[in-house]
Amino acid sequence: MTNLQAALAALHTQQLYRTRRLRSGAPTVRTTIDGRSYLTFCSNDYLGLAAHPAIAAALREGTHRYGVGAGASALITGYSSAHHQLEEALAAFLGRPRVLLFASGYMANVGILSALLGRNDTIFADRLNHASLIDGARLSCARLRRYPHVNPQALAKLLTSPRPLHSRTLLATDGVFSMDGDIAPLPELARLASEQSAWLLVDDAHGIGVLGPSGAGTVAQFGLTSEQVPILVGTLGKAFGTSGAFVAGDVALIETLIQRARSYIYTTAPPPALAHASLTALALVQSGHERREQLTALITRFRQGATALHLPLLASPTPIQPLLAGTAPRALAWSRHLERHGILVSAIRPPTVPPGTARLRVSLSAAHSAADVDQLLNALADLPRGNSDGIE
Ligand SMILES: Cc1ncc(COP(=O)(O)O)c(C=O)c1O
Repeated sequence: MTNLQAALAALHTQQLYRTRRLRSGAPTVRTTIDGRSYLTFCSNDYLGLAAHPAIAAALREGTHRYGVGAGASALITGYSSAHHQLEEALAAFLGRPRVLLFASGYMANVGILSALLGRNDTIFADRLNHASLIDGARLSCARLRRYPHVNPQALAKLLTSPRPLHSRTLLATDGVFSMDGDIAPLPELARLASEQSAWLLVDDAHGIGVLGPSGAGTVAQFGLTSEQVPILVGTLGKAFGTSGAFVAGDVALIETLIQRARSYIYTTAPPPALAHASLTALALVQSGHERREQLTALITRFRQGATALHLPLLASPTPIQPLLAGTAPRALAWSRHLERHGILVSAIRPPTVPPGTARLRVSLSAAHSAADVDQLLNALADLPRGNSDGIE
């Protein structure tokens, strides 16, 4: 396949080629990757639950009770009492009438947008929304209007352009932006959505478990109601430490998704044992005040240290603390520098982030200690700073 080889070679030349690393142990902050032990700062396991013994025990118990695979899609026989219990518990946690579980956040976003909107409709989306929201918008065939990042004034202007009569309008945003760590201006977005009779969808993949009272997320942190944010998406593969995702909303929303969301209907239901394990994860999230306090202390420590070192920090109050490198070669050079110090922070390059904004996405976890953060800061203190690309 010669054409493919040429395209791959071009990626190599631009230093945009991606490779996978091979982890041999559990996803803890100190782990063995490619045969070498590293202190890692690049997972989304914000509360340190991904290897928690109580969740692992619940997974074993769930397997014993429900078997390994779901055996069928949810609308056939794949929907089990483990899924049902988790949906009910998540609905109570988020104060919403209903919840629907999906196998992943990607599938949730793609399924929701393509189920709710069609050719005649319009989606307004923050320019830095997660890829799954963009792909869902594309799949829906609705008109996609992207507004500048966290800029409600620009969105307000875009919203004045005429839309077809009797069409639907949806405003979609990440709650916490996955590569930048900043928080969407949800009160302003909710006001604009209400003025325009638009639905507001908040994908709080990186906020749930971390922000808000008992970890209920960004929407709860702002004190917004389910009328203001009728579609709330969360994932289980990040702060919850397991896998899967959910959407929370009213009965009509959830029933519509059960009828129409193709990424829900035409796929095997997630393993029931995983839902059983996620129920334990939910209890740990809800009672995880100490973990969240530890995380807040680590964020402050890292930001103070990085500011003192004049590192190119982005303005983020969350565990996602990106250091802006600019070019892909520079981001790679920084990542390799940290590797030589036994620290793993992967370089994030286009197309995951816009061209010219390659970065190290440092992410903190409650499982890190203050000494771990200091070790990272010490290694960052002598980061190669030249402007030449490909510095080593
Ligand atoms: C904002 C956001 N939404 C959705 C997803 C997808 O979630 P999942 O990994 O469960 O597919 C991610 C991360 O991968 C994300 O950052």
